[in-house]
Amino acid sequence: MSHRVQKDLVSSLKSARLDFGLTQQQLAKKTGIPRTTISKIEAGFRNTTLNTMLDLAKAVKLDLKLVKQEIFKKAKNMERSFETLNNIYIDSSAIIANYNFFKNKFPDHQIWPVVKSNAYGHGIEQIAQIMKKAKPEFMIVDGYYEALKIWKINPQQKVLLIGALSPHNYQNINFTKLSLSIYDKNSLGYLGEIDKTINIHLKINTGFNRQGIKVDQIEDFLEELKKYNNINLEGVMSHLTSADEVDDKFVIQQENQFNKALDIIKNLNFHPKYTHLSATAGSFTAENKTSNAIRLGIGLYGYNPLPDNHKKYKQLQVRPALTLISSITNIIDLSKGETVSYNRTFTAPKSMSVGVIPLGYYEALDRKLSNKGYVKLNEKKCPIIGNICMNMTIFEIKNSSAKLFDHVKVISANHSDPNSVLNMAKQAETIPYEILTRINQNIRRTII
Ligand SMILES: Cc1ncc(COP(=O)(O)O)c(C=O)c1O
Repeated sequence: MSHRVQKDLVSSLKSARLDFGLTQQQLAKKTGIPRTTISKIEAGFRNTTLNTMLDLAKAVKLDLKLVKQEIFKKAKNMERSFETLNNIYIDSSAIIANYNFFKNKFPDHQIWPVVKSNAYGHGIEQIAQIMKKAKPEFMIVDGYYEALKIWKINPQQKVLLIGALSPHNYQNINFTKLSLSIYDKNSLGYLGEIDKTINIHLKINTGFNRQGIKVDQIEDFLEELKKYNNINLEGVMSHLTSADEVDDKFVIQQENQFNKALDIIKNLNFHPKYTHLSATAGSFTAENKTSNAIRLGIGLYGYNPLPDNHKKYKQLQVRPALTLISSITNIIDLSKGETVSYNRTFTAPKSMSVGVIPLGYYEALDRKLSNKGYVKLNEKKCPIIGNICMNMTIFEIKNSSAKLFDHVKVISANHSDPNSVLNMAKQAETIPYEILTRINQNIRRTII
């Protein structure tokens, strides 16, 4: 609760006390709260806790439910009324359409949204909110803190954690709706000590050589697993290295290894409910005959990971959901020959107007886009000029009517725009994944 809201409430409590004709001394006697505390609260003492204030409200016979409603209404309004100059808008219809596209395309597979790294920059809470109605069996995260964020929005959502965890944390983890991707025998020992059923998805290393056990280690792992009655082999998984390439040789090789692993597991009399190998690209480029779930990351957010010369490229039809809008906070007229920003990498070739947006490489713009990238102002493309700063970027104004606080589109959801994630990634010599996941978590995300 913000201090201003607290202050408002304090003044209404004070007037309520006066309405009831109570002195601070009398109120202290009635509530057991020391008079000095009451006096501090009424003076707007900063560390007043919500509970103390509610105790006070009770003492002066205020309707507690109304008081609580009022507090939260005020807090919410205050949050909303604080206008931010950088804003992200998430198009929920695009996210739902992309999810349904994969669901319809692969009816024999469950589709599990991958929401790690702040849902690829889209906001994990926002995506959990949008996905609430679609009810995917699992959402996939990298760290436990991400699972906690999902449960804040939807306590019923099952989560599969695929990142690394220190086994020392297992005792502090809520396993009710959580499954873990596991592949080392050491972790089994720790999990075996927990007095609860633990669902694990065994990760097989079919050639990525990053996580998982190799096919010839499976028997040994399952022998160990048999020692722990509380650990359930709920799933078996692997991950493809090159599903987004035209040459499918290594996909076939990895899928063969995966199928071999599944046979071994079955022959050892384990029958995991879920098997999953493919992410977005692999859903189109692997056979997926022995799997029943797809871990959908980049495709959910509207980006096609296949190269445009891939024969399946056109079949994968999704649309981006994220737009980042900033606002002009300064306009400067340059004369021919004047320079811009750190190290003066841009010199005005003629007199021109430049605009400043309060957003730099800390917020969203890869510094490689200095003197290279574009923003859009009133649908006109405007080049970024000079070096991108930590929290500010300068661009050439191409519209003579531009004024302070006009909106500037920094990231466009339209692939053909020069400031689409795809084009930004090309210009910055990286991949859309990096552009998206680097968008600062502090920028407000609004679902539209
Ligand atoms: C194990 C695993 N599965 C699925 C995904 C999602 O991949 P994509 O975004 O290409 O769909 C990732 C992404 O990093 C991953 O590491």
